[in-house]
Amino acid sequence: MNYQHAFHAGNHADVLKHVALLALCDALLAKPAPVFALDTHAGAGLYHLQADAAQRTGEASGGIGRLQRGLHPAIDRYLGAVADCGAMHGADAYPGSPWLLAHALRAQDRIACCELQPGPLDTLKAALGGDARVAIHGRDGYGAMKALLPPKPGGAAFNRGLVLVDPPYEAQLAEFDAAFAALRDGLQRWPQGMFALWYPVKTRRALARMQRSAAAMPAKSLLQVELLVRADDSPLRMNGSGLLVWNAPWRFDDTMRQATKALVQPLADGPGGGSIVQWLRSPA
Ligand SMILES: C[S@@+](CC[C@H](N)C(=O)[O-])C[C@H]1O[C@@H](n2cnc3c(N)ncnc32)[C@H](O)[C@@H]1O
Repeated sequence: MNYQHAFHAGNHADVLKHVALLALCDALLAKPAPVFALDTHAGAGLYHLQADAAQRTGEASGGIGRLQRGLHPAIDRYLGAVADCGAMHGADAYPGSPWLLAHALRAQDRIACCELQPGPLDTLKAALGGDARVAIHGRDGYGAMKALLPPKPGGAAFNRGLVLVDPPYEAQLAEFDAAFAALRDGLQRWPQGMFALWYPVKTRRALARMQRSAAAMPAKSLLQVELLVRADDSPLRMNGSGLLVWNAPWRFDDTMRQATKALVQPLADGPGGGSIVQWLRSPA
């Protein structure tokens, strides 16, 4: 495995994923019942945008670097969390999904993070290992959906929560087969959970089969949320990204429809940018 998220932290795909992740957390926090979050492909948890890796690609300057407050409340919420991360870890700090989960969730909530590579795993342990709510596993995140769901950290059952699946797609489209097999299992084990799978968009044509498979999963609903920064017609680069969200919470579709529309203008590179928020399976 070669993928290092440090080269991509804060890019347009992270912006979409992290705005959506915080919106899902906020929906869960509307009730006092404890929440469980599983981050199957956690990464390092904390990045520095002035570090060599991020500077070499400059991707953050096409993502978080283009945003300002006032575009939409969900984007302000994300920018507020990034600012809090900067206040704690230095002005160039950028939070990974485990950090955002730990920041958003409460004392009664629990978080499990899986990361396979030793380097990011060490950074993740240094960033969040001291937080008693967070369990860090150096194991395969797909297998964790079998081992850790339904969630019973500390012996207590959790009815509410989410699973974020954010693989590196080194296997290209074949990654969907592995992700869907694990997600099917996870949805059967924990039908109350919300499950979100991030994916890159290169060409629209390549995504048709995976959308059909996604809609056939055992869940009440499936929402597709995409942000395109260019036309989705070239296999050579990431032209946008999306999230498939099974069992999305009430009004999450409205929030993401407005938030992604507000992200298009600042993040698009020329014509062809846009957003898609649609139900691939409507809630009953
Ligand atoms: C896209 S990055 C994660 C970024 C993170 N979710 C965030 O938003 O900040 C994907 C991570 O998954 C790790 N990884 C790859 N295959 C894995 C697997 N089977 N199980 C757990 N982690 C894996 C990689 O080492 C990499 O750090």
